[in-house]
Amino acid sequence: MKRKLAHLTWGAVAAGLGLFGIFGSTLEAKETTVTEEESAKHFVEMAKVLSSPRCRNCHPTGDTPLHGDTGVPHSTNVVRTSADVGLQCTTCHRSENQPDEHSPPGVPGWRMPDAKTPMTFQGLSVSELCTRLKDTKQNGGRSPDDLREHMEHDALILWAWKPGPGRSVPPLTHEAFMDHVRGWVKGGAACPKGD
Ligand code: HEC
Ligand code: HEC
Repeated sequence: MKRKLAHLTWGAVAAGLGLFGIFGSTLEAKETTVTEEESAKHFVEMAKVLSSPRCRNCHPTGDTPLHGDTGVPHSTNVVRTSADVGLQCTTCHRSENQPDEHSPPGVPGWRMPDAKTPMTFQGLSVSELCTRLKDTKQNGGRSPDDLREHMEHDALILWAWKPGPGRSVPPLTHEAFMDHVRGWVKGGAACPKGD
């Protein structure tokens, strides 16, 4: 019994040493280095979310927000600058989703990016989208790490994964998306070449 216990203990120590000594260092090395090429590949995965309907509808080419998965122009002539003429997004979009299909979805602060920095995601190739996203003149002065922070916590972004009845969610979970965002930033926020 005693011998068996000693054996077990030694086994645990050996396993511990092995884990930290050998596997620990390789795992760590794997975690801290992301090559430029891998970083660009992470962006390709990120782009699948950025261009999904839930994100695209607030980040369209023009000044009209879009509805639904097919991206039809918003009802009642709502545009980016509607608030300037007294029609607030939050008149209809309240702090929570409404229970019925085709009712206005909501989280606090529902709005589009403003006209000076429209933050378009629509109609761009994956590499154009990447370059646009990193351009501090167009992204609200954000560094890649600020972008990561925004995509991790912003309420409008998190809404995309609980969008209310009748709306699809992005093709990756928020967790999987963030793994790619972190990998992208760690490898220097590289952009894929070509399209
Ligand atoms: C008069 C009420 C009203 C106003 C004002 C309004 N919306 Fe909407 N909005 C709606 C309704 C209703 C829906 C749901 C339509 C549906 O699902 O068929 C909607 C849906 C949306 C969607 C689509 C969500 C998705 O992914 O399917 C976006 C984006 C959106 N609105 C943005 C805005 C923005 C930005 C503003 C302010 C500039 C705004 N809306 C102002 C009523 C309004
Ligand atoms: C209800 C509208 C709305 C939805 C839905 C939305 N966004 Fe945004 N997004 C905004 C607004 C408004 C800003 C500007 C906020 C600011 O600068 O503080 C913004 C800014 C951003 C930025 C900052 C930098 C840049 O250059 O674009 C990123 C990145 C972003 N959104 C990603 C996403 C992603 C990813 C999704 C979907 C998972 C999404 N957004 C869904 C409204 C929206």
